[in-house]
Amino acid sequence: MTITGQENKFEWTRKHLLGLRQLSADELNHIFATAAGFEQISTRSVKKAPPLRGKVVVNLFFEDSTRTRTSFTLAASRLSADIIEFTKKSSSVSKGETLLDTAKNLEAMGIDIAVVRHSAGGAPDFISRNIDACVVNAGDGFCEHPTQALLDIYTILKNRQSMEGLKVAIVGDIAHSRVARSNMWAMTKLGAEVTFVGPPTLMPAQVDKLPVKVSHSLDEVIEKVDVVYMLRVQFERLGGSPFPSVREYSRYYGLTVDRMKKARPDILVMHPGPINRGLEIESEVADGPRSVILQQVKYGLAVRMAVLFLVNQAAVTEKK
Ligand code: NCD
Repeated sequence: MTITGQENKFEWTRKHLLGLRQLSADELNHIFATAAGFEQISTRSVKKAPPLRGKVVVNLFFEDSTRTRTSFTLAASRLSADIIEFTKKSSSVSKGETLLDTAKNLEAMGIDIAVVRHSAGGAPDFISRNIDACVVNAGDGFCEHPTQALLDIYTILKNRQSMEGLKVAIVGDIAHSRVARSNMWAMTKLGAEVTFVGPPTLMPAQVDKLPVKVSHSLDEVIEKVDVVYMLRVQFERLGGSPFPSVREYSRYYGLTVDRMKKARPDILVMHPGPINRGLEIESEVADGPRSVILQQVKYGLAVRMAVLFLVNQAAVTEKK
């Protein structure tokens, strides 16, 4: 599909965005078309639009985040919502309050949308079944990170027009990556061919049942792909040591200047951030001419505006 900025006739009915696994290609394309419409707002001198005026968005982050949280805050504020920032460290969660109590108390204050990040897979879904507000998943355990994958695909579409037939390598710590999972579900639905690349110890269980190819050799794959998506090695989630040494990992799975020489000249280099420079990717590549890493951050704003806008629209329609 081409991003036109024209909203199609598609009717969006979901008041929660919990994952991309359950979304259709039409729904994905509707989010991109809506995001394209919002993209222009960021180029105006007054960077605000009124769709969420009088609405309250709470950022409910039980796990650390820089990009995702600030991006949602900015997206909500560009749509004129009031925003409450909630982090685990500065809340009563550190005093033992349960997830449900926290959510119920916030709901009692009349929130409209909860943006939830949690280390437990399924936490946003649990909250959505227990409160009335819209819920947007901002990353749950190893499960899904839908808005990250949406902004990733939107970035690819801005550079490539269509996902159909595109070859994408997602490289590194797949086992612990919700980003890899959300991208896999959505990219394959839009017709891309996804290959998970990494050492066997960093592949998810039953990877053969997923709609992807698997490779343990980045050298073989790098020559063939249109997009190389590098993942952070998530040391905070690693139990034991899944590879002999950091140097060894870089040697086989790092995106180095040398390895880039084998890549197609128009390859797109992506990373969700935060980057471990020198480990999964060399600085010269991360900051180099094929990198679209900062475009990902930029387009994230329009994509998150679209998601907040659409879930609220579905909630408003439901109440009518
Ligand atoms: C990712 C996450 O938190 O899942 N980061 C992000 O949202 N930009 C990936 C990561 O932490 O490695």
